[in-house]
Amino acid sequence: MRSPFITQRVISYGEPFCDREEEIGKILESASRGEAVCLLSLRRYGKSSLMNQVLGKLRRQNWVTLQLDLMNIFSLDAFVERLEAEYASALSYTERVWTRAREAATGMRPRMEVDPLSGKPSVTIDLLGPQSSAESRLLNVLRAVIALPEKTGAPVCLAMDEFQQIASFGPGSQIEGVIRSVFQYRPDTFFPFFLGSRRHALRLMFENESAPFYRSARVLSLGPLPAAAFEIFMVDQFKKTLDLDIPDRIAAATHRLFGGHPHAMNRTASYLWTSLCGNRDLSSVVELWKNRVIEIIQEESGYYEVVSQNIARYAMNVLHRIAVAGIVHEPYSAAFAKSCGLTPGQIQNALRILRKEEKVAEDEQGISLLDPIEAICLRMIGASDEAGREALGRLLEEIAVMV
Ligand SMILES: Nc1ncnc2c1ncn2[C@@H]1O[C@H](COP(=O)(O)OP(=O)(O)OP(=O)(O)O)[C@@H](O)[C@H]1O
Ligand SMILES: [Mg+2]
Repeated sequence: MRSPFITQRVISYGEPFCDREEEIGKILESASRGEAVCLLSLRRYGKSSLMNQVLGKLRRQNWVTLQLDLMNIFSLDAFVERLEAEYASALSYTERVWTRAREAATGMRPRMEVDPLSGKPSVTIDLLGPQSSAESRLLNVLRAVIALPEKTGAPVCLAMDEFQQIASFGPGSQIEGVIRSVFQYRPDTFFPFFLGSRRHALRLMFENESAPFYRSARVLSLGPLPAAAFEIFMVDQFKKTLDLDIPDRIAAATHRLFGGHPHAMNRTASYLWTSLCGNRDLSSVVELWKNRVIEIIQEESGYYEVVSQNIARYAMNVLHRIAVAGIVHEPYSAAFAKSCGLTPGQIQNALRILRKEEKVAEDEQGISLLDPIEAICLRMIGASDEAGREALGRLLEEIAVMV
């Protein structure tokens, strides 16, 4: 039997997926009127999994869906190639033949041959001239893609995950300009769906007045999973798969501890599921949960060390201070600078770095960490497993009073 809590990969359509009904509803609503959507979130908040749910639902309504993950695409050429491949696979066999025939009429020379054994005729096509530049190939394939609804008779969605990557293909705004110039003539039956985790970069693309994509998409943000939805999801999945009634407070504490972070919560549920799958004995579920949570925090600490290794030490020190405080109400005060052993000028620099790296959130209340898992990992630095277990015990007690 396999865990219903999928981790370390994107959740496909049809696999257990918690909530996000409001977001899915909004995206489907935009899709139905051909309004582009840009979905943003921190890393591992579930964008790609949510995209799969949306695309799955659209396919069930007979949409044609094209999907590109730009994470591992590093050049315009590679991007165009992938887009061409997606386009080709979206066409049905007969339409592919039709396209080839049209290409033959415009820039290619068809060659008629007869198979000497079977006697059957076949047509091959040779290119006449050299390959066109990547920009004009992009223009052509995009035009073909927005013409797909007419060609196939079905509405079409083009989803591009980690879309901010296009800015790294060279003269970014030129590519953005090409995409925008084609998409502005798209039919209502064509739905462009952009996703990405570099929220600052994407906001600049879609919300900066001088950017080609300015106001060309509905920008939606994916936040933490709601407590009630996750608790129901976790408890239900244990019941369905192992016929176990795990205590509500375990699910509630998982949510509270990780601030609704989908990756950390689903991982906790998955580890606990694996522990309980063999013996199905709930008598030591609380201890099991504590052990597995500590294991996850240790693994995650390694992850954040790697992703933060290029950030200056003094800035990381300030981040640590903020994590320990939870929220710093006056980050620019002399008192905070002193508590960090830095000058106010150094604090300004550190906060600038942390903002650029999307590590902190600032509002009128003060400054705090954006990623709840990173906050826990930093708070736990130097603490023993025993101290961790005690802290988790206190959290469970607090929650037991509430539920
Ligand atoms: N709605 C959900 N229900 C259950 N688990 C979820 C949900 N959303 C996300 N997860 C968990 O979070 C993990 C990360 O999800 P996903 O890869 O879709 O996020 P992402 O935002 O695309 O991440 P990245 O920024 O790294 O690309 C999943 O493997 C799963 O464990
Ligand atoms: Mg993703």
